[in-house]
Amino acid sequence: MGYYDSISAGYEELYREEQLNKLSIIKSGINIGKGSKLLDIGCGTGISSGFNCFVVGVDPSINLLKRNSSNRKLFGIAESLPFKDGSFDYVVSVTAMHNFDSIKKSIKEIKRVCKGKFVLSALKSSRKFSCIKKAIEKNFKIEKVIEESKDVIFFCASL
Ligand SMILES: C[S@@+](CC[C@H](N)C(=O)[O-])C[C@H]1O[C@@H](n2cnc3c(N)ncnc32)[C@H](O)[C@@H]1O
Repeated sequence: MGYYDSISAGYEELYREEQLNKLSIIKSGINIGKGSKLLDIGCGTGISSGFNCFVVGVDPSINLLKRNSSNRKLFGIAESLPFKDGSFDYVVSVTAMHNFDSIKKSIKEIKRVCKGKFVLSALKSSRKFSCIKKAIEKNFKIEKVIEESKDVIFFCASL
């Protein structure tokens, strides 16, 4: 059983408030129309999927997905996304990238499935943070950066 599967019962109690705060910052930072299609990578229980548009979530934790009430959630990993090229107007990923086995593969996939904008929120305390930051800077045009207490949120467009 993976880490997030093992903590799934207490996940919301532990993290709901801080993840909702990040979601609120993201929603204030981008203007997403109702008709937009958004992919939430590493959606977990769905806290980070609270956008007023067509949202699809993907996550490899079965136990977190069981607690996600959305009917548009899929089992999957960022490194191999089960979607056609350009399927989404937005990709968001909130406090999930430090868990990805390959930042390189996941960024390639994120760019492939999204024809619009990207919001990538990275955990500052992760040992992978500087590698994630460098990869974001190399692969996207960064339009805005907001630092909150635990994450740095990168608002990006294609290069
Ligand atoms: C800190 S949680 C964040 C969950 C959610 N975004 C939120 O804001 O509550 C990290 C999430 O990343 C997911 N994750 C781990 N490895 C992943 C991968 N390779 N691809 C996509 N998601 C992954 C975990 O299952 C977990 O749901």
